[in-house]
Amino acid sequence: MPIQILSPTVAAQIAAGEVVERPASVVKELLDNALDAGATRITVDARGGGIRELRVQDDGSGIAADEVELAFERHATSKLAHTSDLWALQTLGFRGEALPSIASVAQIICITRTAAEEVGTELRIAGGTIQERLTRGCSPGTSITVRNLFYNTPVRRDYLRSESTEMVAITQVVQHTALAYPHVRFTLLLDGRLALQTNGSGDLRDVVVDIYGLETARQLLPVHAEYGAEIDAVQVRGLISPPSVTRSARTAMHLIVNQRVVQARGALAAVVSEAYHTMLMKGRHPIVVLAVDVHPAAVDVNIHPTKAEVKFRDQQRVMSVIGRAVRDALVAGTGVVTWGDGANASELPRRFEVRPAPPPPAPPSSAWGVGDPVWTAQSRWECGCAAAGSAAWA
Ligand SMILES: Nc1ncnc2c1ncn2[C@@H]1O[C@H](COP(=O)(O)OP(=O)(O)O)[C@@H](O)[C@H]1O
Ligand SMILES: [Mg+2]
Repeated sequence: MPIQILSPTVAAQIAAGEVVERPASVVKELLDNALDAGATRITVDARGGGIRELRVQDDGSGIAADEVELAFERHATSKLAHTSDLWALQTLGFRGEALPSIASVAQIICITRTAAEEVGTELRIAGGTIQERLTRGCSPGTSITVRNLFYNTPVRRDYLRSESTEMVAITQVVQHTALAYPHVRFTLLLDGRLALQTNGSGDLRDVVVDIYGLETARQLLPVHAEYGAEIDAVQVRGLISPPSVTRSARTAMHLIVNQRVVQARGALAAVVSEAYHTMLMKGRHPIVVLAVDVHPAAVDVNIHPTKAEVKFRDQQRVMSVIGRAVRDALVAGTGVVTWGDGANASELPRRFEVRPAPPPPAPPSSAWGVGDPVWTAQSRWECGCAAAGSAAWA
């Protein structure tokens, strides 16, 4: 066959393979977009394993009427203009790939309206081709409905697991995200049944109650430590279970880096597990919700196709701080003396000193620049989003 350039539709379908593996990956991308749009309420509605229909509705900034089509073009993004922006990233998205990828393998209805506009726009797309555009009344925000996922790529569809497995995966994505964003009110409906609802109070423990129940949430120990300043700053906050409260699966390990949910594997998961050292029975895993915040320039978020992994500039130092923070929380919470904290712990070289954080300042009224279409470098890092959130995490 002679060399030829692929048609945009084929190219998009191939690219979609990286971003859209299953319904849960669609949910993750749409949640990221809603959060980047500053949403405070997000509803996810999945039917038929999310294959038949998925809807994510938010009260965020909306998309301007004259930009709706553009949002579905490849490499179209409002979040990044130069490569250097990658090092000051305040948004979850930046590649401009999600919407065109999803649109190339499903039927989409996008209904959106900005607060400045009087009416909204409805755009219907199937297999990457625009079918219809209308003006319609709706409240500010965005609703994206994805129907018949992989209808035009039957092989991909055949690879999907059962509807119930896909529903579990969707639930996990929403749970992870809700734990990373306690200020946002999440609602998850599965085939019309309410599966999860968080109250958006900003209190992490409230979200843990919604997911793991009151009894478990009550037993979790607070983690709160910070080290260094500016580019070297590392803050670790969250809730972890004492060794007596465990799960058989690793799915209760929720790791969040700069408000981005990352996979609980690799160095980050290992350092947390190691902190429990010999305290856990074999095959048991702790419940961990850990938010690590570093300067945006101190982490590379662009190393993984679905951004599920990140790499710290000073990986070893960050891991040290996390390990120490988790161990200190376990010691403080259980009175159990762990490795390195025994009688002669002071003689052991402590590579880094983890100080208890000072009392957090009063949260600004709009810490995350809610309502701004784009978070500026200032809005999330320098205003001390970490600090703003920390009252809730304490
Ligand atoms: N829920 C939403 N609310 C407001 N704007 C949105 C929403 N979803 C998508 N957009 C707009 O569409 C653009 C393209 O989205 P996407 O394909 O996910 O790429 P990215 O998130 O990497 O920018 C975004 O940059 C944003 O401007
Ligand atoms: Mg996106």
